[in-house]
Amino acid sequence: MKNKLKNMFTEHWKYLAVNAACKLNLFDALEIPMTAKELSEKLSSDERHLSTLLKALCSIDFLKCTNGKFSLTEKSELLTDNHPESLKYACMNWASEHLTAWQNLDYSIRTGQSAFENLYQSNFFDYLNEHPNKLDDYHKAMFEYARDDYKTLPDLVDFRKHQSIMDVGGGYGAAINAIKTKYPTIECYLFDLQKVIENVQIKNISKIAGDFFEYIPRLADAVILSRVLHDWNDEKATLILENCFEALPKDGTLYVIENCADKINIDLSLLSLNMAVMCKSFERTFTEYKMLCELQGFNFQEDKKLNQLQTILIFEKL
Ligand SMILES: C[S@@+](CC[C@H](N)C(=O)[O-])C[C@H]1O[C@@H](n2cnc3c(N)ncnc32)[C@H](O)[C@@H]1O
Repeated sequence: MKNKLKNMFTEHWKYLAVNAACKLNLFDALEIPMTAKELSEKLSSDERHLSTLLKALCSIDFLKCTNGKFSLTEKSELLTDNHPESLKYACMNWASEHLTAWQNLDYSIRTGQSAFENLYQSNFFDYLNEHPNKLDDYHKAMFEYARDDYKTLPDLVDFRKHQSIMDVGGGYGAAINAIKTKYPTIECYLFDLQKVIENVQIKNISKIAGDFFEYIPRLADAVILSRVLHDWNDEKATLILENCFEALPKDGTLYVIENCADKINIDLSLLSLNMAVMCKSFERTFTEYKMLCELQGFNFQEDKKLNQLQTILIFEKL
């Protein structure tokens, strides 16, 4: 037991070694197998320390070494830029500011405030707005998650009844792109902050820049709010829902997609602590989301399980 505990104290070194490799573009460089010396020249890095990192990555199956040449494994292939299902940015997302905020979890527990906001004197999304590279890295990470998480969304929900759909806070557009691909005749809109919208690559979708706390244009007969409400406390989430309500016509549909603790058998406490340190928020239950939306006048219709974590809650504006 004591040994298990001691091992646990330094478990995060493994993730941080992999994160360093991603930041150094080490896995991308090793798409061609190389010796430590060749790689240190390619990456302009210290050969001795790089060799140690390579050995550490071998010890956790992120690299293999044959005749002095290091090459990728199944795990590290997924952390290269060129892999079609790459998780490189998802991997890097949980270091830097996230990690710093987590190191101050005790502050959040004591005060009920966001450790991130205390450290950086800004809310997370305003901070990203001021740091274009970090904003791009974060949204690439969200896209890598979203690309997998929303794969089955267009099959699970029959969107044919809508003429137009707006994904509000849709990031780089993975969900709305999946819908547009299956339902090409539906007019699809992606709504997010100006600096996010400027970076969006996908075509055939109308991109709209704005602030969901201010105003959401009345363009679509359905609105998707996916992984948005969990970023905000009840007061802020209510403001977003009020603006969604205003944006929808009578009989319009609201799709809320979130992790609902009471709909799954997975404990969400750690995810919820992440929301606490980053955003002064928390993962709500299905009942809490339902109540929050009903208080704004939405009429609950049904819910569907999207994947292991997420539930789709469907509401109508009467
Ligand atoms: C956790 S991400 C979710 C992204 C995407 N819906 C998904 O499920 O992957 C939250 C999104 O809300 C957007 N957002 C944050 N504040 C916003 C605001 N005031 N107005 C519009 N969008 C905002 C962020 O830029 C980001 O894309």
